[in-house]
Amino acid sequence: MSVKNITVFGAGLMGAGIAQVAAQNGFKVVLSDVTEKALQNGLQIIQKSLARVAKKRFAAVSGQEGDGEGAGWTREVLGNIKTGTDAGQAVSSSDLVVEAIVENLEIKRNLFGFLDRKADPRCIFASNTSSLSIGDIAGTCSAERLTRFGGFHFFNPVPAMKLVEVIKAQHTSQETFDTLVAVAKKMEKVPVSAKDTPGFITGRLLIPYMLEAIRMAERGDASPQDIDTAMELGAGYPMGPFKLLDLVGLDTTTFISNGWREKAERGEIPKELVAKIPMLQKLVDEGKLGRKTGQGFYNVSRYDGPQYR
Ligand code: NAI
Repeated sequence: MSVKNITVFGAGLMGAGIAQVAAQNGFKVVLSDVTEKALQNGLQIIQKSLARVAKKRFAAVSGQEGDGEGAGWTREVLGNIKTGTDAGQAVSSSDLVVEAIVENLEIKRNLFGFLDRKADPRCIFASNTSSLSIGDIAGTCSAERLTRFGGFHFFNPVPAMKLVEVIKAQHTSQETFDTLVAVAKKMEKVPVSAKDTPGFITGRLLIPYMLEAIRMAERGDASPQDIDTAMELGAGYPMGPFKLLDLVGLDTTTFISNGWREKAERGEIPKELVAKIPMLQKLVDEGKLGRKTGQGFYNVSRYDGPQYR
C-alpha cells in the first residue's frame, strides 16, 4: 500500500521529530494535539531542528550559512506540515496514523478507539510506544483494523537517530508490516523487525542492564562513575548506564520497570529483572530525575563529553 498522507498524534518531543522527518522526506503531514499551545510547541521544536539541519546541509554545499537555498528548503518542508486539534478531521484523508502521545495505556486506547471510527478503513495505525504492548493499545479497534495496526518505535532525537523498530503484533498483516518498513526507509531510517514483547529489542536489553547497574552500585560493588567508565572504555559503549539513566529519566525508567512488574506477575518476563531498587526509588522520591531536573545519578553541571552538549 502506498502512503502519502501521515497524521502524527502528539506534538511533543517525539511527535514533532516524527512529523519533521516525514515532511523532510516528501510525506504530507498533519500534526495533531489536544491544544493549540502544544501544537505551537511542536512547531517550534521542528523549526529549531530544521534550522540546524539546513545549516549543515546547505553550508556543506554552498560554503555559506543560512543562504537562500536552505531557507527555501525549510519553507518547503514546513509547507508539508499542517496542524489541528480536531482528531477526527486530522485523520480524514490519512493513509497512516503515527501515535506519539503520553505513555498511558487508557489514553492511547481511547484515542485509537475514536480514530478507528473516523479514519478510512484502509488507514494504517501505528504506535510509537516504548514500553506498552501494541496488542493492548490496539484493543479498542475493530478486528479489521487490527490487521492494519503495528508498532513504529523511533528514538530520541528522531531527526538524528537512524533506528526504527517495526513491531509485528499478533494480528499485524504482512502488508501492513511491509508498508511500515517502506515508510521507515523513505524517512531515511533503518528499520528492524521485532515482535510485540516487553521493550521490543532495545528496551528489553537496555532496561535490565541499567537496573542491574544500579543494583551493582547499591551493593557497593563499584561506584556509578567507575561503572560508566568501565562500560565506555572497556565495552565501547558511547555512554555508561548511569549517564544513560540520567538521559532517559529516572521517572521514565521507574515507570517502565513498574509496568514490567505486572508482566512478570503474568510470567511474561523473569521477576528478578524488575525487583524493586531502593536507591532508584529514593532519587525519584527526592525529585532527582536526571537531566530534566538537573540532578540524577550525576549533577548535570558536571556532565562533559560530546553526547551532553
Ligand atoms: P511528550 O510529553 O513530549 O509529548 C506528548 C504529547 O502528547 C503532548 O504534547 C501532549 O499534549 C500530547 N497528547 C496527550 N494526549 C493526547 C491526545 N489524546 N491526543 C493528542 N495529543 C495528546 O512525550 P514524548 O516524549 O514525545 O513521548 C511520546 C510517546 O513516544 C510516548 O508513548 C513515549 O513512550 C514514546 N517514546 C518516547 C521517547 C523519548 O525518549 N521521550 C523515545 C521513544 C518513544
